[in-house]
Amino acid sequence: MGAVKLAVIFYSMTGTNYRLAQWAAEGGKEQGAEVRLLQVPELAPEETILENPAWKEHVDHVKDVPVVTLQDLEWADALIFSVPTRYGTMPGQLKQFLDTTGKLWFHGKLVNKVVSAMASAQNPHGGQEQTILGIYTAMYHWGAIIVSPGYTDPSLFTAGGNPYGTSVTVQNGKMVEDVQAAVKHQAKRTVDVAKWIVAGSN
Ligand SMILES: Cc1cc2nc3c(=O)[nH]c(=O)nc-3n(C[C@H](O)[C@H](O)[C@H](O)COP(=O)(O)O)c2cc1C
Repeated sequence: MGAVKLAVIFYSMTGTNYRLAQWAAEGGKEQGAEVRLLQVPELAPEETILENPAWKEHVDHVKDVPVVTLQDLEWADALIFSVPTRYGTMPGQLKQFLDTTGKLWFHGKLVNKVVSAMASAQNPHGGQEQTILGIYTAMYHWGAIIVSPGYTDPSLFTAGGNPYGTSVTVQNGKMVEDVQAAVKHQAKRTVDVAKWIVAGSN
């Protein structure tokens, strides 16, 4: 059996979810996966981005990170999503991308994808859990295998104890909780489950 193929897919406006995604990619590689780190296509008008210096700086910073395509979804055995909350739901950028997957779904190409998700918000209870669960709702329609961290590692408690997926509070541009170890644990667990699924499917 070859290495598990993991796509870590993020959307970020000010860098937090890019950082989470980088840690997930590292964790995935440490667990032996072949990893693609990918960003969701931006949909906001350029003038809106230019009005916000922090947003513009982030866009420049990630300009060389590949943009996710449907081929990446087909390629991957496992997917980890990382997004900021938007009023308690996933950003429209990710939703729009998911809304382009109908053809893959119709042909059964998304069945048994191993999926996990992470989120951030400005407030400790600003919608992180619901944002993750909203992503999982779409994944249930795919027939994906959802891998939540539960409380499978002590790092979960340091990270704020979100059993649905690692989440973080962002204030003044800084992450409040120490989540790096929890992100890596989540990525490793996702890769482990993907190994079982891939091995059992061959
Ligand atoms: C349109 C919009 C809606 C937001 N809604 C919420 C919210 O409901 N609760 C919250 O705590 N933060 C909210 N935020 C703050 C973002 O979640 C926060 O800036 C983000 O998690 C930072 O992640 P990033 O650095 O990856 O962009 C919102 C931000 C924007 C721009």
